[in-house]
Amino acid sequence: MEDLLKAVADILRSSKNAVALTGAGISAESGIPTFRGKDGLWKKYRAEDLATPFAFQRNPKLVWEWYVWRMNIISKAKPNPAHIALAEMEKEGIIKAVITQNVDGLHFRAGSKNVIELHGNIWRIRCVNCNWKTVLSSPPTQIPPICEKCGGFMRPDVVWFYESLPREALNKAFKFAAQSDIMLIIGTSGVVQPAASLPLITKDHGGILVEINVADTPLTPVCHYSLKGKAGEILPRIYEYLKGKFE
Ligand code: APR
Repeated sequence: MEDLLKAVADILRSSKNAVALTGAGISAESGIPTFRGKDGLWKKYRAEDLATPFAFQRNPKLVWEWYVWRMNIISKAKPNPAHIALAEMEKEGIIKAVITQNVDGLHFRAGSKNVIELHGNIWRIRCVNCNWKTVLSSPPTQIPPICEKCGGFMRPDVVWFYESLPREALNKAFKFAAQSDIMLIIGTSGVVQPAASLPLITKDHGGILVEINVADTPLTPVCHYSLKGKAGEILPRIYEYLKGKFE
């Protein structure tokens, strides 16, 4: 593994456009449950009842109860060494952008600046009627929250199944994927589109793919490097090699 870490650090050091694509696994060591895998949220809950526009139409209170439960977990969570290592790599001018599927905001809290939130942010809510948006600092006390402008129901400003991604974020992500010479793919099962296609765009343009995951995924076979292990342990080691702490 050490040779792999050193090789990836060397590629990052000489890269011109390194990007990271992250999923729920990068926040697992912050105590935030992932969606798939043995303890995943989709093992305990039905996504159809909680994370679709139809579920919200059918029972907005139930959907909000689930999001308040997730907000409470996220508000107690802290960025872990994986988030922090990525933020340091951005400060050093190595990582140019973090493209994340996560809605927990931990990349920003770790200090990353150029973060593309493909699936929205759990703390932003929007009116289903007039689209007015606002950002919460804590979970809503009244559920569903009521729009201050028109009195309509407010919903989490996140992307649910059967919904399209925010256009500006998606266009930026495609642009970064097409121009990146190395993509770190961290903590994603690589099964949800269109995020799972971003690594293939990078590879098609001659970029190097490095997967950091505790398990194999459908992306593993197309990656040039596959580092098996926890993101919170692997990323800080890569950063240490980058900083030349090891020869
Ligand atoms: N370090 C690295 N990888 C990890 C760790 C860890 N500590 N813990 C778990 N993983 C890996 C798992 O092996 C899995 O491959 O993280 C991945 C998490 O996969 P998912 O739970 O499917 O999360 P993600 O890929 O982000 O899901 C994509 O699906 O439900 C929707 O909108 C939701 O954004 C989410 C999207």
